[in-house]
Amino acid sequence: MLKGKVAVVYGASGAIGSAVARAFAGEGAQVFVTGRRLAPLQALAAEAGSAGGSVRAAEVDALDERAIDAHLSNVVEQAGRVDISFNAVGVPNAKILGVPLVDLELEQLSGPLTSYTASYFLTARLAARRMVAQRSGVIMTVTALHARMGLPLVGGYGLAMATKEALTRQLSVELAPHGVRVVGLRPYAMPETPTIRNAFEPRAKATGMSWEQWQETLAARTHARRLMKLAELTNMATFLASDRGSGMTGTTVNLTLGSVDD
Ligand SMILES: NC(=O)c1ccc[n+]([C@@H]2O[C@H](COP(=O)([O-])OP(=O)(O)OC[C@H]3O[C@@H](n4cnc5c(N)ncnc54)[C@H](OP(=O)(O)O)[C@@H]3O)[C@@H](O)[C@H]2O)c1
Repeated sequence: MLKGKVAVVYGASGAIGSAVARAFAGEGAQVFVTGRRLAPLQALAAEAGSAGGSVRAAEVDALDERAIDAHLSNVVEQAGRVDISFNAVGVPNAKILGVPLVDLELEQLSGPLTSYTASYFLTARLAARRMVAQRSGVIMTVTALHARMGLPLVGGYGLAMATKEALTRQLSVELAPHGVRVVGLRPYAMPETPTIRNAFEPRAKATGMSWEQWQETLAARTHARRLMKLAELTNMATFLASDRGSGMTGTTVNLTLGSVDD
């Protein structure tokens, strides 16, 4: 589905970023994986290479505008273009989870908002400058249920996710006339990623729930009465990144298994 496409993934050492990179490479894209730590990216590149994919690793802080720009120039020099930009950056949130809003410090509220928005904005607009010139491309990112639903004890995370979804719409309305689509994915909790366990730990103290009870509670919110699999996210990401997703822009795809209405 992605033969001939050139993709850059930010935050590719993480659970979602690495899974998306593997899926894109498996569908024939040339993938450039980036993150702050080179070792896991090199391991990912080697693993994808032995499975027949093309994955190249580079250290890029997705909050550093100059580093992102220099890397994209390298990508275009090596591959001739950039077709897909996928921002899977996740900001560590151990300090904000489990704290009621009334006890939250201002920087615990604004921290995730600033980091998530800045990273998405910088990676998107720097890719967009190249994509507008070639008159094609797809800019993608990930949000969460919290963008659309009041959920307790998550500090500024919900604001950050809602802002990213708004930014997807804003980017799309300006970029789509130039052939560039902008699409987000809003997955439900995927317990096979360490992220979900890490998000649970601070809440365990605040709620008194066990890991099993928490998973049951999350599953009960969905129509399907189950949690999500990473492959369900990567299948949709691959479709949206491909030319078959050409009808989608300015929106965030609802992968919450029915737990939030459109
Ligand atoms: N996992 C789920 O079930 C799930 C469900 C819904 C939504 N989400 C959301 O999806 C996003 C990604 O989730 P995930 O599970 O993949 O998280 P993750 O495994 O923690 O991955 C996030 C990655 O972002 C990287 N990162 C952080 N700051 C960066 C920066 N400035 N530059 C480059 N890379 C940076 C981290 O790398 P370092 O090692 O350098 O910190 C980490 O590898 C998060 O917003 C998460 O809340 C996840």
